[in-house]
Amino acid sequence: MTRSAVHLNRDEPAVEAIDVVRSYDLGAGRVAALRGVSLRIMPGDHLSIVGPSGSGKSTLMHLLGGLDRPTGGELRIGGRDIRTLTAPELADLRNRTIGFVFQSFHLLPRTSAVENVALPLVYRGTGARQRRARAVETLTRVGLGHRLDHRPNQLSGGEQQRVAIARALVTDPAVLLADEPTGNLDSVTGESVLALLEELNTERGVAVVLVTHDRSLAARTRRQVIIRDGLIATDSPVPPRAVAAPEIVDAAPSAEPRFASGSESGHPSGGSGGAAGATGRLRPSHPLPMPRRGGSR
Ligand SMILES: Nc1ncnc2c1ncn2[C@@H]1O[C@H](COP(=O)(O)OP(=O)(O)O)[C@@H](O)[C@H]1O
Ligand SMILES: [Mg+2]
Repeated sequence: MTRSAVHLNRDEPAVEAIDVVRSYDLGAGRVAALRGVSLRIMPGDHLSIVGPSGSGKSTLMHLLGGLDRPTGGELRIGGRDIRTLTAPELADLRNRTIGFVFQSFHLLPRTSAVENVALPLVYRGTGARQRRARAVETLTRVGLGHRLDHRPNQLSGGEQQRVAIARALVTDPAVLLADEPTGNLDSVTGESVLALLEELNTERGVAVVLVTHDRSLAARTRRQVIIRDGLIATDSPVPPRAVAAPEIVDAAPSAEPRFASGSESGHPSGGSGGAAGATGRLRPSHPLPMPRRGGSR
């Protein structure tokens, strides 16, 4: 475990957006990707964000993860208002709190799996031996202990996404933000990636935020946020019945591909959120192994 992950209080939001606006200045005028979004991600939360292409999902994810800043409203990560942070401070807080998984993996191409996974630890100043040890351990955890030295082009899509998940996890984040993580995968492979994310949530208490086009995937999270035209339309717990794994598995015809039909953008933009967050947890009592992060600041 990396020692310096941020320690979060389980009763306080890990990430919170308060009336967040993100607009872009284009030559011709201003585009508001998010128009006043309020959303709380609690430690151990498991939620999906669904909405049509262009509704602001990726913009919101970038903001929630501190990859971008709002143009209005307030964004708090680990209780800290990011307006008070310099760029290096925000990068450090992000590194110690958040893991990202993208639809298109974003791995370094000529770099082995183990080196890709170890990279975030470089920014933390972790020594080379420990970086490797942590990367090997994390790759093993995602089922890739036998692919350590493979480069991305020597791995299947599902394996590449597992490497990306391992890279997101190696810093021991409290929150994992996954923006259409199964969008480039076939349905069977996508299923295994989703199962891995679910396991991280239930077994390790990592808060998982899943952006998806697919309502059947969204129905598997304990809370569902629907975003439309830059605003949160609904934010509600998924009924317990919808979460029961066996019914979902049976209900999903396995031959049906789950491609998210290529609407990926992935702009670093800001997020806002409409409705404030119910956590919709069904199992509020599982232990949250929040790492102690002896953090700076
Ligand atoms: N960097 C950017 N510059 C200009 N407009 C952007 C930028 N990023 C996103 N947008 C616009 O903001 C809206 C929301 O985009 P996005 O968050 O990517 O939606 P989604 O992920 O739901 O498909 C879209 O209209 C998009 O064109
Ligand atoms: Mg998107």
